[in-house]
Amino acid sequence: MLDTFGRVDVLVNDAAYNKWIPFGDLEAMTYAEWQKILAVNLTGPMLCIKAVAPAMRRTGGGRIVNIASIAGKEGNPRAPAYSTAKAAVIGLTKSLGKETATTGITVNCVTPAAVATDIFNQMTQEHIDYMLSKIPMGRFLEVGEVAAMVAWLSSEDCSFTTGSVVDISGGRAVY
Ligand SMILES: NC(=O)c1ccc[n+]([C@@H]2O[C@H](COP(=O)([O-])OP(=O)(O)OC[C@H]3O[C@@H](n4cnc5c(N)ncnc54)[C@H](O)[C@@H]3O)[C@@H](O)[C@H]2O)c1
Repeated sequence: MLDTFGRVDVLVNDAAYNKWIPFGDLEAMTYAEWQKILAVNLTGPMLCIKAVAPAMRRTGGGRIVNIASIAGKEGNPRAPAYSTAKAAVIGLTKSLGKETATTGITVNCVTPAAVATDIFNQMTQEHIDYMLSKIPMGRFLEVGEVAAMVAWLSSEDCSFTTGSVVDISGGRAVY
C-alpha cells in the first residue's frame, strides 16, 4: 500500500477471531486458544497501527477506526478471551487517541451489538435468541448501519473526535 500510493489515510481494524464452541468457557479453553484470540483481536490491531501511524504522521494525519464490541463493555458470556480482547481494544483506542492528538491522526472505536454475519454460524439458536433479548430495539444491527458509522469516523468530518468509544448497540449499552 505504502509502496504503491505513498500514503495511508484510513485504517479500519476489523479482523476478528472467536471460537464459541467448544472453547467458550474459560475452564475449557486452552492457553493456545486464549493466545490466538488475543493475537488476532488485540495484537493484530496494535501491529497494524504501528505499521501505518508513521506514514500518517508524515503526510499530515489519518483516521484509525478499531472495531471493538459491546462484549468489551459488558463481557459476553461464553466469550472470556474475546471480551477481554475487545475491552483492551477500547483501552488501546483511548490511549492512542491521546498520544496522537496533535498529529492529525484520530483514533476511535465502535462497540457494535450483534450483527448477523458468518460469526452466527458458530452459535446455538439459544445463544442468538439470548443476544437478541439484550437489545432494546428488538432487532440485530445491520451491516450497513455499522459501515455508515465507520465511514463517518474515517472521514474528514470527524475532525475533533478522538479516543472515543462510539456506541452502536440499539440501546443495549448504558454508557
Ligand atoms: N458480528 C457481530 O455480531 C459483531 C458484533 C460486535 C463486533 N463485531 C466485530 O466486527 C468485526 C467484523 O466481524 P464479522 O462479524 O464480520 O466477523 P467475521 O468472522 O465474519 O469476519 C472476520 C474477518 O476476520 C478475518 N480474520 C480472522 N483472522 C484473521 C487473521 N489472522 N488475519 C487476517 N484476517 C483475519 C476473517 O477472514 C474474516 O474475514 C470484528 O472485529 C468483530 O469482532 C462483530
